Formats: sequence, C-alpha cells, structure tokens
Amino acid sequence: MLLHIPEVLSKEQVAGMRGAMEAAEWSDGRQTVGPQGAKVKRNQQLPDASPLRRELGEIVVAALARHPLYHAAALPMRTLSPRFNRYEGGGEYGFHIDGAVMATGDSDVQVRSDISCTLFLSEPEEYDGGELIVSDTYGEHEVKLPAGDAIVYPSSSLHKVTPVTRGARIASFFWVQSLVRDDSARRLLLELDTAIRNLSASAADQASILQLTGVYHNLLRRWAET
Ligand code: NI
Repeated sequence: MLLHIPEVLSKEQVAGMRGAMEAAEWSDGRQTVGPQGAKVKRNQQLPDASPLRRELGEIVVAALARHPLYHAAALPMRTLSPRFNRYEGGGEYGFHIDGAVMATGDSDVQVRSDISCTLFLSEPEEYDGGELIVSDTYGEHEVKLPAGDAIVYPSSSLHKVTPVTRGARIASFFWVQSLVRDDSARRLLLELDTAIRNLSASAADQASILQLTGVYHNLLRRWAET
C-alpha cells in the first residue's frame, strides 16, 4: 500500500528544520548501505552520530505520533530513528530494495523494515527530478510531495530516486516495524478503520458501529505480533 500522509509537519516546522540543516556537515550516503546499494546511491546524509540528526529525528517522530492517518495506516510497533538526506548536482539512488533488518548506531534496537517512509522537506518547485519511483505489481508510481508531507510504502518494493538536475531535494526517511507484518492485512484494517470513523461521524446505527469496531479489534488481535 502506497499512501500519501499529508501535513505531518507544518510549513513553520519545515522551515525551522531546513534552517538548522543549512550549517550542518553532511556525509556520503553510501556509508549506511551495503555493497549493492553503494553501487547506485549518490546522495548525502546527516551522519548517524550527529546530535542534529537525533534532534530533528525526534521532531519527526513526535509529529507522526500525533497523526491519526499515519497511525491507522502504519500501526507502528518500532520506528528507526529518522535519517535525513540531500540530493543535488545529479545525485540519485538507483533501483534497490531496502535491507530487511535495520539498526542505527545509537541503540541496539533492531527494526524489521515492513514500511518505508519518506518525509519531504523541500517543496516540489525547489528542484527538478528527485521523484521517488516505487515499483509494485500495479506498475511504477511517481511520488513528489509538498514539504511536510510523507509517503509510506512497503519496504519490500523496488524503488529509486531519479537524478536531481536543479536545486536540492531534502527529505527525512526511516523504517517502521508494524504490529501487522502483512501489507494487505494492514490495508484491510485501514479501510475498516476509515469506514468506522466515517460511520461514527454520521447518524449511523450505534450498535452496528460497535459491532464493526469489535471486528476491527478482533482482526488486529489475530494479526498483531508484539
Ligand atoms: Ni530505499
């Protein structure tokens, strides 16, 4: 499930983060991938050990925690501390699949990557190229979102970032281990959750809403791994 999560960060929050990153030292993005990824990755990242990365990552995680659609879609159990990248001057990341198990240097916590998330921090008009292309059984999807918006997609998808030929594309990216490992099961739960919310906002029969809510929780109980 490829899903657009709008307005994770406000424009003010984005501006604050962009300002803080202006004076930052960036490192070669190939430092955090294996040999296969290193062949096709050409970008820069805030170093894992950078206090600024941790500080900004905490802002991202706190913003996600307040976002109901993100929660309903991702059902997050563990989230890897967000990283930040910058593509410019033809920088790109060719087709690859993200590693299955991830860890950051600042903790022993390992995360099985069920969901990949990119949070855009540059406006689309600030750069040319830099589309995130996610390939799934329905074909290739091109993603370029306003600053502050995020996209979530299954980590099992082949994906790439096209070359940035003008300006700079700055984003945050991270992985999530979901309570529900199976993407299609998560999608069913999101659809059921959305329908229940919509019915609750209407004058629908309360007993039926209660029954559907029970079905939601009993499916989650069946599928959740903790
Ligand atoms: Ni990737």
